[in-house]
Amino acid sequence: MTNQDQMLREKAYEEVKKYKDIVESDCYRLKYHLMPPVGLLNDPNGFIQFKGTYHLFYQWNPFNTGHGAKFWGHYSSKNLVDWQHHDIALAPSDWFDKNGCYSGSAIEHDDKLYLFYTGNVKDENNQRETYQVIAESKDGETFEKKGVVVELPEGYTAHFRDPKVWKHEDHFYMIIGAQSEDLTGKAVLFRSTDLFNWEHLGPIAGAHLTPFADFGYMWECPDLIELDGQDVLIFSPQGLEPEGIHYQNLYQAGYVVGKLDYEKARLEHGSFIELDRGFEFYAPQTTLDETGRRILIGWLGMPEEREDAHPTIEHKWIHAMTLPRELTLKEGKLYQKPVEELKMLRKEAVYDADVELKSEPRALVGVEEEALELLVEVNDSRTSSFEIQICNIATISYNPTDKLFKLERVSFVDGNTIEERFCQLDHVNEIQVFLDTSSIEVFINGGEEVFTARIYPDENEKGIVFTAEEKIIMNVKAWTL
Ligand code: FRU
Repeated sequence: MTNQDQMLREKAYEEVKKYKDIVESDCYRLKYHLMPPVGLLNDPNGFIQFKGTYHLFYQWNPFNTGHGAKFWGHYSSKNLVDWQHHDIALAPSDWFDKNGCYSGSAIEHDDKLYLFYTGNVKDENNQRETYQVIAESKDGETFEKKGVVVELPEGYTAHFRDPKVWKHEDHFYMIIGAQSEDLTGKAVLFRSTDLFNWEHLGPIAGAHLTPFADFGYMWECPDLIELDGQDVLIFSPQGLEPEGIHYQNLYQAGYVVGKLDYEKARLEHGSFIELDRGFEFYAPQTTLDETGRRILIGWLGMPEEREDAHPTIEHKWIHAMTLPRELTLKEGKLYQKPVEELKMLRKEAVYDADVELKSEPRALVGVEEEALELLVEVNDSRTSSFEIQICNIATISYNPTDKLFKLERVSFVDGNTIEERFCQLDHVNEIQVFLDTSSIEVFINGGEEVFTARIYPDENEKGIVFTAEEKIIMNVKAWTL
């Protein structure tokens, strides 16, 4: 470890210590989501199960609640529920990453854990340079940077980052999020036999490649996965204009399904589908675990949009990770189900009854905890529109006439404006809600659609209230978490 590395780490730990009490006294500290100990957390990185243990790294600026020269923070877990926080995995201490150890991924090879990340460098004139870097670990605890393995190829701007590495047959592959010189987003493929020497194969997808005419100015955090014999490219495009109920956030996160021709380095694929319909969800990353499940974790945040308005910044921290979700592919669509292990979070069953609704609002008695799971089975969603109001600050609703499912929240920017997000659903038979002190994740029909958002309820505004227009019966279960 260099002196610079040592010095940066010590400074970061000092921040953690200095603000520990302020951070921990925040009533909006989450009960069962991953957060930074201080400062800003963004993308999930290096998600992997290594020798039985899950590791999740995260983009971390320990020094303030804005973006900056990122470190890789580190959590691990045996069961995706109980997480342990570790020492810093990577600090921005070298010439090739001095302005940030940006996002990347992990892979196991020859019994070792390798991290790939983007070294972000800015010169005196704010000109950016980008390097793809490898780091090695024997124990999954300490990481040794081995240096730059990929430099910027011709034809791209320095917005070239977020390597995701996987193995396919006899080769390793790396996909990188890029902006080509015509200022359009691309996903670029590399191949290697040893993880250290990489051959540039070219863009597999992007603007001006079929079927996209134009699709944003930059693609961040690509992830190429195989599911059910199909190849799915997950990525976070920037620069899409809103279209009706779609692309309502500043940046998007979604996927295309198709088939990657590894020889031609081209992905034939269908149209782009958003992964999440809520307000705060970005830069997700997946891993294939030892049981063969494909698990996704996203950043429960959104860059630039409302970032300075989150009330947690008064307490010196911002953002969190989503819950882990198991992915499956059904008829060309990704379903995201909270992983089975999350049932271990359930403490006490506080509600289990058939609820018959008829125009009168109905508050669930005894369901006032701030950390809750709610499982609602809807008997026939075609008979009536209905809504579920949460802590007097967010409402989810479904209207069978226009078939729109909606999440509404009171804006935390001004505490007044109502903000809305939608998705289209033919019917609704199940709604699963995970509520934490300042977040909500809504899974509909076993993960067919998901809404993720931060909400900041008042201390005295707890409780769940159901309302319907016509008669409708629901089975409602609730657990404290
Ligand atoms: C996405 C992103 C990545 C980058 C990282 C920097 O949120 O902008 O493209 O590597 O965050 O923190």
